[in-house]
Amino acid sequence: MDAIRIRGGNALFGETKIQGSKNAVLPVMAAALLIEDISIIENCPRITDVLHMQKLLTKIGCKVSRSGRTLMIDARHVSRDKVAGESVTGMRSSLMLLGAMLGRFGEVTMEYPGGCVIGKRPIDIHLDALQKMGVSIQKEEETFTAMAKRLTGSVITLPFPSVGATENVILAAVRAKGVTVLQNAAKEPEITALCNFLQKAGALIEGTGGPVLIIQGGCRLHGVQFKVPSDRIVAGTYLFSVLGTGGHIFLRDAPVSQMRSMLKLAVEMGAEVTASGEGLSVIVSAGKKAVPYVKTDVYPGFPTDMQSPLMAVLSTAAGVSVIEETIFEDRFRMALELSKMGAEILTDGKKAVITGVEKLHGCEVYAKELRGGAGLVIAGCMAEGETIVRNRHFIERGYEDICRDYQDLGVNIVTE
Ligand code: EPZ
Repeated sequence: MDAIRIRGGNALFGETKIQGSKNAVLPVMAAALLIEDISIIENCPRITDVLHMQKLLTKIGCKVSRSGRTLMIDARHVSRDKVAGESVTGMRSSLMLLGAMLGRFGEVTMEYPGGCVIGKRPIDIHLDALQKMGVSIQKEEETFTAMAKRLTGSVITLPFPSVGATENVILAAVRAKGVTVLQNAAKEPEITALCNFLQKAGALIEGTGGPVLIIQGGCRLHGVQFKVPSDRIVAGTYLFSVLGTGGHIFLRDAPVSQMRSMLKLAVEMGAEVTASGEGLSVIVSAGKKAVPYVKTDVYPGFPTDMQSPLMAVLSTAAGVSVIEETIFEDRFRMALELSKMGAEILTDGKKAVITGVEKLHGCEVYAKELRGGAGLVIAGCMAEGETIVRNRHFIERGYEDICRDYQDLGVNIVTE
């Protein structure tokens, strides 16, 4: 029935293991296309976005096989082909094939990647940057063709540190002629993971993790064995869940060093956090505090992907909280569903004002996208009574098995 049923109102207790990162594994899978060899990707999460990317790579001619959480991508015999069809539309991560296909073939035709409810998701920054590397873009009604006789390294400054555009420039630059200097590059940990994967394959990239990347093109790339880092947003989702319900949890393999902004806010709200080599322990024994003002920002700021989980938790924090969403233009869709559960939230474009209520009450709510869906599951764990979250498929794009994880943490939750 594409739903999740939760009987909420209890504290969380238990331990769960954090899966591999969705937003790290997708660009790494695209990067495997640049390598005329076999690449082994470990700790790969079993999520539908990965399944889509597997289909796309297979369509292009890669041999992709999976055993448990290990993916094998053999990109020795791939064909220049249209990257189109249902797998491309409706999913952003396919856009990363743009840079990889240009790097491998110098040409690709693809449908405009589907946007989603959080925003228009334009690709102007991607295309402008690639054009500086000698790529010509031919736009049709439904598709566009990007072509470059010879990708050439260039000095590129992004107008905004777009994660996807940074990834596409890196993927094109490793196979371009000459050096590419990318300024105002995104600094998210997922960019670092992509650079680490490519460096392991023989690419020469300097400045990893910083705002300026220097990529030497033309290096011969060889197959690698690479472990995907843990997912900081999945770990953050569970970190904030226990703030919503109270309790004591342990998040095994949580990538603590990538979670500083989330941990800082959680402590301000009343969480007691202890990091160790194995993961993150979180104890919340008293009521959480409201947050007078917080804004989402590019890394290392508070991540936009954590905005919905935070909003759910703040809905019962005593006092008034204000969240400003600075990254996407329409990322407050979940507020309407939360108000069905008794939340008091006013939104106007970029800002949401949340007045904490005593309790949420369970009811039927609808996920409209991935992280808003996760926020509704958190609200269901917090609410008195039973909550049904419909459109589970949105959540499965990024969470391997959110019900299994919450059951680990003692929640009465089942898929339907
Ligand atoms: C990546 O999306 C992530 N997706 C998103 O995670 C994440 O929210 C986002 O980065 C920001 O951190 C993947 O990695 C697969 P952007 P991306 O380009 O690359 C505007 C999730 O829930 N923009 O940094 O699409 C854009 O509209 C997903 O896991 C342009 O205007 O993000 C947005 O307002 C959601 N023109 C802002 O920049 C462009 O050409 C940030 O976008 C590109 C982007």
